[in-house]
Amino acid sequence: MDELQDSVRSAYSGRFDNEPIMVCAPGRVNLIGEHTDYNKGFVLPAAIDKAIILAMSKNNLGLIRLLSVDMSPDYVEIPVAESYDKNEVSWANYLIGVVSELQKAGHRIGGFDCSFGGDVPIGAGLSSSAALESGVAFGLSDLFGLNLTKLEMTKIAMQAENNFVGVKCGIMDQFASLHGKKDSVIKLDCRSLGYEYYPFRWHDVRILLCDTMVRRTLAGSEYNIRRKQCEEGVAIIKKVYPEVNSLRDVTTEQLESQREKMDAVVYRRCLYVLNENKRVAAACEDLLSEDLKSFGEKMYQSHHGLKENYEVSCYELDVLVDATEGLDGVLGARMMGGGFGGCTINLVTISKLEETRASIRDYYFEKTGKEPGFHVVKIGNGTHLLTEDSEIVTRAGQI
Ligand code: GLA
Repeated sequence: MDELQDSVRSAYSGRFDNEPIMVCAPGRVNLIGEHTDYNKGFVLPAAIDKAIILAMSKNNLGLIRLLSVDMSPDYVEIPVAESYDKNEVSWANYLIGVVSELQKAGHRIGGFDCSFGGDVPIGAGLSSSAALESGVAFGLSDLFGLNLTKLEMTKIAMQAENNFVGVKCGIMDQFASLHGKKDSVIKLDCRSLGYEYYPFRWHDVRILLCDTMVRRTLAGSEYNIRRKQCEEGVAIIKKVYPEVNSLRDVTTEQLESQREKMDAVVYRRCLYVLNENKRVAAACEDLLSEDLKSFGEKMYQSHHGLKENYEVSCYELDVLVDATEGLDGVLGARMMGGGFGGCTINLVTISKLEETRASIRDYYFEKTGKEPGFHVVKIGNGTHLLTEDSEIVTRAGQI
């Protein structure tokens, strides 16, 4: 992370003048609770130790100047305006989208300079885009004295993705990037936006992400179709139960009573969401009773539901989950995030980490002819400023 900070800082000073603030905005994992956020249900994400780092400062030039350390083209410059159009450089929209949403919310954003880079793999389902949006919202709040709460930043960052980038994502990714806490998962109620931290620190277990290396964007894809199907289910149920506004408000009995009126596919989507919400609640109980085995079983059930009823998995994700069958080092495995590619999340006993990785690799290669990627991640803090002090502490800690 130190190296990353240095490269973002030196890219910054190579192009811009003022002394910047440094912001660290992490990616996220989600232990369980998939495709529940936009259905106002429960999720259980955490921020990780892979992040986007931003160097930012105001300029008095009436310009927004953006510099990417890893992408090409690497530079975008636009004048400060009342409103913004989509930029032809796609990465710039994650930043301009935040400015646009802040302005719509009545905040005045002047000229600023920003360089950024990160080690969150792009398109792997670890929310690199949400991390970038969260980091920009956090940095601009600081630079322009907006005093936004983290929840306000979360909403702005999500709206940037919804309205400017054009992906109708839920709130989970931006919430996790901003509110993460070291060694804790966040149980977020996406209806009330109330949340609780649950301890997630196991000396003998690691979070292993296995990457299919399949990349698919969510924009204009099946993701938005799933949202619509859930809304369709809600509309049918609401006719009989007017108090229902989202799948979160629906009981299993209510769903069953309206099953005949629904398309079979819509029914299966709704059924999955209701069951997944129950699994999140039960999985949190497992954490309190320190029963990681039972927690892991729910991860497998979650994958099964995502594959069979929600139909957002893909061959490669299924192979990675199947690869863990019978491996006694693996407590649980499931696809993570929007689906159709990206990573599975696995809870693995530390003493079996290497042999687990080797078995998964061999199985995946045999079935797909491709090499998977692997990341062991730790749960870290949410978006924060990097101060000189923390830099010194980190460096001293490494000596
Ligand atoms: C993507 C979205 C999230 C969430 C997940 C699925 O990561 O950005 O809001 O819907 O998919 O759980």
